Amino acid sequence: MSEIRVNTSKAYSVYIESEPIESLRKKFLPENSKYLAVISEKVEKLYGRLLNIPKSNKYVLKDGEEQKNFKNYLSILDRAFKLRLTRKDSFIAIGGGVVGDLTGFAASTYMRGIKYIQVPTTLLACVDSSVGGKTAINTKYGKNLIGCFYQPDVVYINPMFLKTLDEKQYKSGLGEVIKYGFIEKNCFGDYNLLNFLSEKQTQIINRDEKTLSDLIHICINLKKSVTERDEREADLRRVLNFGHTFGHAIERITNYKKYTHGEAVVEGIRYAFELALKKGMADESYRFFALDLIKKYGYKELPKFDTDKMNNLMKLDKKANSSGICFVLPCEYATVKICEI
Ligand code: GLY
Repeated sequence: MSEIRVNTSKAYSVYIESEPIESLRKKFLPENSKYLAVISEKVEKLYGRLLNIPKSNKYVLKDGEEQKNFKNYLSILDRAFKLRLTRKDSFIAIGGGVVGDLTGFAASTYMRGIKYIQVPTTLLACVDSSVGGKTAINTKYGKNLIGCFYQPDVVYINPMFLKTLDEKQYKSGLGEVIKYGFIEKNCFGDYNLLNFLSEKQTQIINRDEKTLSDLIHICINLKKSVTERDEREADLRRVLNFGHTFGHAIERITNYKKYTHGEAVVEGIRYAFELALKKGMADESYRFFALDLIKKYGYKELPKFDTDKMNNLMKLDKKANSSGICFVLPCEYATVKICEI
C-alpha cells in the first residue's frame, strides 16, 4: 500500500491500494467503532453486499448534483443524533464528489466537528474532491456556495472501484486529470503529466490498473503540494480552478443535467485557451496542442451559450470580486496565471 501524507492544518494520510473490497472494509470499519456511512446509491447496489454495512448505520444517497442539498444535510445530522454519535465516532463518505462534499460538510458541523473518513469511488473523487478539505452544499444561487474547509482524517483510495464506473463518470474524472496537466508547474510538479496523458492515452482509456494508480498518485501529489501551501484558497490554490469559472457557469445554465462536471471543466479549459490567445498570453501552437489533447480524449466542443447569461453566472462565482471575474488562464507549457477580467 502506498501512503501520501498531506500536511495541512490537520495532517492526514491518503492510502492508495488496489485490494478486494472486503479487506478495504476492515480498514475503514474497524470492529466496535460507531459511525454513520453515507453511501452513493450506485455503490450500494454494486458493492453493498461486500461492504456489509448495517442498515441503521448507513444513509443511502441518490445520485446527482441536486442531492447536495440542505434537506439531505439535515437528514444526515438527524441520523447521526439518532445513532448517538459523539465526536470520537466517525462519518464515512463512500462515493463520488457529491457524497464526499455533503458528508464532509455535515461532519464539520456535527457537534462542531466529528471524525471524517473518505472512501472515494469515482475517478473525480479519487484525484480531486476527496483530498484538500473542501466541503459544501449547493443553493439555488449556485454550486458549493455554502460550505467550509474541513480536512478528512484519512482517505482510502481503491482503484478497483473504477472498473465499474460508467463511461460518463469516468470521463468526468478525466476532465479534472487533464486540468492538472495544464497547471502542473504551478503545483511544483515534475512529472510532465501532459506528456503522460499523450503517451498513455490507450492505457488510460482502457483503465489499465497500474496506469490508473500512477495517474492517481501524480494528481494527489500535485493537489497535496498546492493545498499544503494554501489550504484556504487565499491565492495559489485558485489554480486548481483552471477551467472552472466557465465550467461552473455551463453546469448552472444547463441545470447540472446536460453535462458532467468534467465535460464542463474541459469546455472551460477550451474557453480559457481562447481568452489567453486573445490576450496574447498563450501562443497558437500551445493552444493547438491543448485542443488536440482534449479531442484525443473524446471531448466534443459544446454548443455556444448565451454570453450575457454566462457573464452574469460567472460574476456569482466565489472567486469573483467587485473588480471583475477571476479567470485562471494558460500562459506557458503546464503553467497558468490568475487574472481578473
Ligand atoms: N477542486 C478544487 C480544490 O479543491 O481547490
